[in-house]
Amino acid sequence: MKKVLDENTQGNTLTLEARESNSKKLYLESYGCAMNFSDSEIVASILADDGYNTTNIMEEADLVLVNTCSIRDKAEQTIRKRLEKFNAVKRINPKMKVGVLGCMAERLKEKFLEEEKIVDLVVGPDAYKDIPNLLKEVEEGRDAVNVILSKEETYGDISPVRLGGNGITAYVSITRGCDNMCTFCVVPFTRGRERSRDPHSILNEVNDLGEKGYKEITLLGQNVDSYLWYGGGLKKDFKNASAMQQATATDFSQLLAMVAEAQPQMRIRFSTSNPQDMGEDVLHVVAKYENVCNHIHLPVQSGSTRILKEMNRQHTREEYMKLIDRIWDIIPDCSISQDMIIGFPTETEEDHQETLSLMEYVKYSFGYMYKYSERPGTSAARKLEDDVPEETKSRRLTEIVNQQQKHSAIRTASFLGKTVKVLIEKESKKDKDEWSGRTEHNNVVVFPKEDYKAGDFVLVKINDCTTATLIGEAVGYS
Ligand code: SAH
Ligand code: F3S
Repeated sequence: MKKVLDENTQGNTLTLEARESNSKKLYLESYGCAMNFSDSEIVASILADDGYNTTNIMEEADLVLVNTCSIRDKAEQTIRKRLEKFNAVKRINPKMKVGVLGCMAERLKEKFLEEEKIVDLVVGPDAYKDIPNLLKEVEEGRDAVNVILSKEETYGDISPVRLGGNGITAYVSITRGCDNMCTFCVVPFTRGRERSRDPHSILNEVNDLGEKGYKEITLLGQNVDSYLWYGGGLKKDFKNASAMQQATATDFSQLLAMVAEAQPQMRIRFSTSNPQDMGEDVLHVVAKYENVCNHIHLPVQSGSTRILKEMNRQHTREEYMKLIDRIWDIIPDCSISQDMIIGFPTETEEDHQETLSLMEYVKYSFGYMYKYSERPGTSAARKLEDDVPEETKSRRLTEIVNQQQKHSAIRTASFLGKTVKVLIEKESKKDKDEWSGRTEHNNVVVFPKEDYKAGDFVLVKINDCTTATLIGEAVGYS
């Protein structure tokens, strides 16, 4: 989960983005979801205008920022350990300032300064533009905190500094926050109300990435399907509902089509889709445009309608299964992945079996599976006892993971003997003579490098596979 943004920062990204006039050094570490990584690029951009270039050597930094995650207790514990490490460095170099950004900053607010004495600044996800002012306060010897959540901030006017990337794939955020209030989830509290970003600023960013030679973008939001932009402005700009309806609106399917048409050579991905909001119009756009990848990440969390209700997910098991059927009617080869929570309060053996049988029905290509972690302040934490014993959670998790591995193996093996289109992303970790890339279905493919380059689209004949990786040889450019 931990990823140092500047790790292996392929000189090019760093040198391209580094400004000669900047004399201060920023070390920025990010945890958690793709949105956090995307936000860190916005923070780096704001700080580049304030005299900071990024460094991957923490010890030489003037400012250390950690963009944090609160989604599960484990994530918070990992970050606290990292703060101890920063503390040790700060003891040697007291001038170094340390700041906490993101969801943990928002959740703990001022408490952070009391609990972690080394922290100089605490900034929530909607207050990044205020960091330069907050740093001045820190210079003047004050602790600085801004955790105000906004109903409007989308950072649409900031062009992100691409950090630690490969110059090939990039995230573009399209919505911020979430209005869904799933009972287990801390995101609505830490990231605030949902708001959509102006489609023009999204298109500008996508076109700019295209000009810079990027080959793939992922449109990001907690719930991309609820993206909605009202012609003249934000919801709040309209006097009433009918005025809003009269204005031209852009929904997610239209945005996706606009992006696909603007950059036909680029691969387009999107995440996360939400079963309650995913409409067929989106599926038709995915089917229509060659460059929109046939892969949908569709978290389900549980296969039991009773548990889904307790989670405040707005669909039943049957409705989810119907949606899966529609996906395959419209996009027959679509790969589907899941998020699952195991051991949600009151989950019985029967509920667990329902999850396993739903998985059997879908045979997901891959998935992310987690034990339920009670988050303070959420409705589940307030109303339901975390009553599934730890051993039961562990055993059920193992069963779910084994089931997923079995399905991943079946899905992966279905490509044996086929020729697939691969975007080369990087050198394979296991073999420096091999490339690693992905198919549109999000399968990782490794194959001998020959004369191909990172960023090339290549046709690869698949000869072998493991559970999660396809192994093959290139047969030409795509
Ligand atoms: N917006 C996405 C998910 C955001 S959080 C959606 O629509 O589902 C990413 C994943 O973390 C969730 O899908 C869920 O599976 C997991 N998660 C969230 N809160 C959790 C908790 N309290 N305990 C365990 N897993 C959790
Ligand atoms: Fe969390 Fe549910 Fe939103 S999982 S991010 S509240 S869709």
